[in-house]
Amino acid sequence: MKLTMFDQSLAEYLTRFKYYADRFDDISRHRTELERLVDDYSAFITDQSNSNIWDELERQGAGGLNGLAEELRAYSARGVATLEKYRALKLIKGDTGITDYFRNIEECIEKEFGSFQVTSKSIVLLVGSGAFPMTALLIAKRTGAEVIGIDIDDEAIRLGVKVIETLGPELKIRLENTPVEYLDYIKEVTHIIFSSTVAEKYDMLQRLHPLTNEEVVVAMRHGNRLKSLFNYPMKETDEDKWKLVDTVLRRNDIFDIALYKKASLHMAN
Ligand SMILES: C[S@@+](CC[C@H](N)C(=O)[O-])C[C@H]1O[C@@H](n2cnc3c(N)ncnc32)[C@H](O)[C@@H]1O
Repeated sequence: MKLTMFDQSLAEYLTRFKYYADRFDDISRHRTELERLVDDYSAFITDQSNSNIWDELERQGAGGLNGLAEELRAYSARGVATLEKYRALKLIKGDTGITDYFRNIEECIEKEFGSFQVTSKSIVLLVGSGAFPMTALLIAKRTGAEVIGIDIDDEAIRLGVKVIETLGPELKIRLENTPVEYLDYIKEVTHIIFSSTVAEKYDMLQRLHPLTNEEVVVAMRHGNRLKSLFNYPMKETDEDKWKLVDTVLRRNDIFDIALYKKASLHMAN
């Protein structure tokens, strides 16, 4: 009975996310409904009793729920990207309200690098900066570091630039739609953050290995178990290239963080 209700809830979330997949318009009802959907879904994903049900399903070998999990992950990622666009538009029009989802994300940012702190001398690369680049803003504001944000969505870059102009024109933040292979100063980057909803993040990590310096530290946002319905999960890395040095797990947060450093550096120590 409990499992059936759980399945039903997930199927309903998927239907609702699909409805908003390609809707990004000026209709404020759509924005409000999407906000509510993402807040509800965040609460569902971080609820301990749901997490227990998911773990039980996985033990029974039904974890993927016939592809439902994969679809939910992809559609909720699109929902969040669209929600960032709505939040950017709202800000550009003068409204600075904040939803539970964004509050949770901002709390996650506080814990990002564990003991590998960002300082005013750091250069941070953010992969998947989004239309509302709050990670870039918070890091640049709190630490004085330089932040380079990249995103494959031109509209997210365009809106992101306006958000930075509004909230932190004095900050050292640059946003662009450029593949990592063509980024200027990539060798000088000291910290890299991957957004958890970037599907190709582990392929990109592999590609970044020869491009980056030996000391670079990588924060890979991810979500395993029930959280993998809202985030791309953690994967094994090539142990000769990237070594997992720490994980930051937070039960009440939407995503967790895996910290990697280069294996060559690790072996030398
Ligand atoms: C919504 S934002 C950030 C969401 C959330 N804060 C997180 O940690 O995932 C995710 C952004 O990643 C971008 N993105 C997705 N795949 C990407 C890729 N391969 N390279 C760069 N950006 C990507 C999307 O266009 C979207 O704007």
